[in-house]
Amino acid sequence: MRKEQDYYFHKAKKENYPARSVYKLEEAQKKHKFLKQKQRVLDLGCHPGSWSLYAAKTIGSAGLVVGVDIQYTDIPTPKDHAEIHWLCQDVYSDELIIELRKQWPGFHVLISDMAPATTGNRFADHQHSLRLVRRALELAGLLLHENGSFYCKVFQGEDFPAFVQECKPLFADVRVMKPQSSRTESREVFVLGTGFKRLSKKIPAA
Ligand SMILES: C[S@@+](CC[C@H](N)C(=O)[O-])C[C@H]1O[C@@H](n2cnc3c(N)ncnc32)[C@H](O)[C@@H]1O
Repeated sequence: MRKEQDYYFHKAKKENYPARSVYKLEEAQKKHKFLKQKQRVLDLGCHPGSWSLYAAKTIGSAGLVVGVDIQYTDIPTPKDHAEIHWLCQDVYSDELIIELRKQWPGFHVLISDMAPATTGNRFADHQHSLRLVRRALELAGLLLHENGSFYCKVFQGEDFPAFVQECKPLFADVRVMKPQSSRTESREVFVLGTGFKRLSKKIPAA
């Protein structure tokens, strides 16, 4: 096990997070503070639950987190955290949008750490990751409140700049980040969009 991998793995264990990936959210939050008290947060690709737990701690007990994954997740919500609703669903399903809309009046932040099962073929993995992140952006367009934030993981590749361009008209500020806890050799990077601009005042129908 590499040194920094070992460091974040043990840190996550000590701090009771099920995955070291939590530090890729924590680092962005410490720098840009887009998670705030009392917000509603949608976490796509939430399993095994670290980002949802971290978001729930950060927004506090008056907030709410909805975690979505194709894998079943169920971790008890610790004291003083926002309540977490775990949904076992595919982000591509239309029922997901209907269910989210039925239960909650939009979200202030959408975070996505979704990743495809990697094949080792860089181009294919990049395209699968782009498809997931474009779906996350589509859901942001449907579910985010005005001025909301979007933080997502993407595997870099030749079409990555096009994705960043697609984000730009939707947010006041868009930046690309590579957190320290992300392995240097990993092609993953993170895009943070803040100041979501809803073109129509109303959240559109599904
Ligand atoms: C790197 S893991 C997320 C780790 C999580 N952020 C954490 O900190 O515990 C990526 C997740 O994306 C999920 N995923 C991939 N495709 C998905 C899809 N179509 N719908 C929902 N979740 C998906 C996978 O099941 C996997 O659990």
